[in-house]
Amino acid sequence: MEQLVQPAQQILIKNWKDGFTIPTSRLYPFQWNWDSGFTALGQGHFDLDFAIRELQSLFSAQWENGMIPHIVFHSENEKTYFPNYDFWDANVNIGAPDKPKTSGITQPAVHGFVLERLLEQFPDSEKLVAFAKELFPKIVKLHRWFYQYRDPEREGLTFIFHPWESGRDNSPLWDESMDRTVFNKEDLPNYQRRDTSIAHADERPTSYQYDRYVYLLQLGKKYKYDERGIFEESPFLIQDTLMNAVLIKSNDSLIQLGKRFGFDTAEIEEWQQQAKPKFAEKLWNEELETFTVYDLRANHAVSHKEIGGLSALYAEIPTSLQALKLNNYLQSLHQRGYYICPSFDVDSPLFDSKRYWRGPIWPQMNWMIHHGLKAYGFEDTAAIVKADLIELVSKLGFYEYFESQKDVAARLETGYGGGNFSWTAACTLDLVRDC
Ligand code: DGY
Repeated sequence: MEQLVQPAQQILIKNWKDGFTIPTSRLYPFQWNWDSGFTALGQGHFDLDFAIRELQSLFSAQWENGMIPHIVFHSENEKTYFPNYDFWDANVNIGAPDKPKTSGITQPAVHGFVLERLLEQFPDSEKLVAFAKELFPKIVKLHRWFYQYRDPEREGLTFIFHPWESGRDNSPLWDESMDRTVFNKEDLPNYQRRDTSIAHADERPTSYQYDRYVYLLQLGKKYKYDERGIFEESPFLIQDTLMNAVLIKSNDSLIQLGKRFGFDTAEIEEWQQQAKPKFAEKLWNEELETFTVYDLRANHAVSHKEIGGLSALYAEIPTSLQALKLNNYLQSLHQRGYYICPSFDVDSPLFDSKRYWRGPIWPQMNWMIHHGLKAYGFEDTAAIVKADLIELVSKLGFYEYFESQKDVAARLETGYGGGNFSWTAACTLDLVRDC
């Protein structure tokens, strides 16, 4: 394992663009929100300054309403990505910063737990403590935005209106909502995808899906990225497991940090008192024995087993019996010859072990689920989740994501998507160092 440390650090150093880190060159040439959070965890192991600056530059893009955008376009000259800042036109919202330019949607709120973990590692760093005190209110402002703007019915569960917000762009979870997203092709602006000329097309979302991503982006823009209109009109309106589990986990982290620093945490505790039981009650799917996402537009649960349901472990949402069921599920996949944790139900006809979020293994998900399993005392499964990722990285390189079927992976020479990938390097580094 130790031999992975040097190359992982080198990737993070190479992807560092003097103030922030790109996920990978060419495919993702800017700063991505949740990527940066995981990246900071890795940077902390060799240069805490990098980690601090990473989070500082991400939060330099915070909107006045509190949102942290999913992409920060630190450079306006880089033209190789679609949709670029000009296509997003985030400044239709008066609260979006003029500089840096940003996208108009968000991503999972990992920053609270990232900050807590960095502080666990460096409890005596004065610089980190000072930074944490400065970042704390900004993260609270982000969470407040989620509960104010993305939970209009005040249920304690926040919604997303674009698959890109969930981080799981083309998961089969969204297929029904994508099919519901109908429009005249002439009404869609002309656009040219860049991703498929860089990564293999069969590892990326389809053009059917991309058209709908662009349609939903346009819908957001039409409402100046203001949630009220979007909530009324969007055909894609989901209470997502991963988004809410990550937010709940980060709420917990903020409460811990607030206590340590003597900050008032009453507001955060109030969110948490509503959010945790609501998640447990509304999103648990007894038939599938996992948590499932809820489609607010169609008013029903989306009944698929997938990785977001497992992320609830990290937020310590499941009861011990529910956690046992999730653990047994992972053990059975392990025994059947899968790396764990595949991003989608391997028994579904929609499972695709190669195509992005339709079945492969994702490093940052393994990182969260590893820690979640440990929190419940499932040490054996946690060790497998970690060992599987280490094995994939050792054999196939620091790729964006990986084949989940062991027999198929054995015939491969590389992982999937972008190479020399920041969160893969960072999560590997953190897992290796956490022995
Ligand atoms: C992409 O470009 O594929 C991202 O996932 C969207 O942010």
